[in-house]
Amino acid sequence: MKKLAVFASGNGGNLQSILEAARDKIIDAQVVLVVCDNPNAYCIKRAKNFNIECLVFNPQDFTSKKLLEDYILNKIEPLNLDYICLAGYMRILSKRFVHKYQDKIINIHPSLLPSFKGAHGIYDAFQYGVKIMGVTIHYVDEEIDHGKIIAQECFHVQDDDTLETVEEKIHDIEHPLYVKVLKMLCNKGE
Ligand code: GRF
Repeated sequence: MKKLAVFASGNGGNLQSILEAARDKIIDAQVVLVVCDNPNAYCIKRAKNFNIECLVFNPQDFTSKKLLEDYILNKIEPLNLDYICLAGYMRILSKRFVHKYQDKIINIHPSLLPSFKGAHGIYDAFQYGVKIMGVTIHYVDEEIDHGKIIAQECFHVQDDDTLETVEEKIHDIEHPLYVKVLKMLCNKGE
């Protein structure tokens, strides 16, 4: 069974679907830790509901990115993680961190990369007026929203779509896609 940590900063909708998939044995993995950089985030409650340990911190309590990452690394290193799943984690990992977990960090991004990188992928794509929107899951490398693509899924934007409806469509795609990718990576023996 693979060991996962999920890093999240906000709502935790993707975290929820990963936790459910692990609980229901759809993926051959256990979430051993949730890492959250926002003490008020709803994802903490989701982790608690599943009795998953949560490392919560306030970034302002650290005087440098290095110290902040050391805090996380000290916690995760003994866990022998197979994968770190970024799921709405709003911090950029340093090169040092990425190198330590090369090919083990996965991110979900709400656009068809390499288009619309950054924190407002859905808004930016919708404002641009693209007719096909979608989601990307990729390995994390040193660049932002960059790295080998594992999976993408898309949909056609309809004339009556609004920012709210496309956001909903993106999230509806994201949750099963993350599970599908983790199934592919974790259930190798099937
Ligand atoms: C998702 O849209 C994900 O693609 C992006 O941040 C959002 C997180 O949503 N990276 P949630 O916290 O998983 O609900």
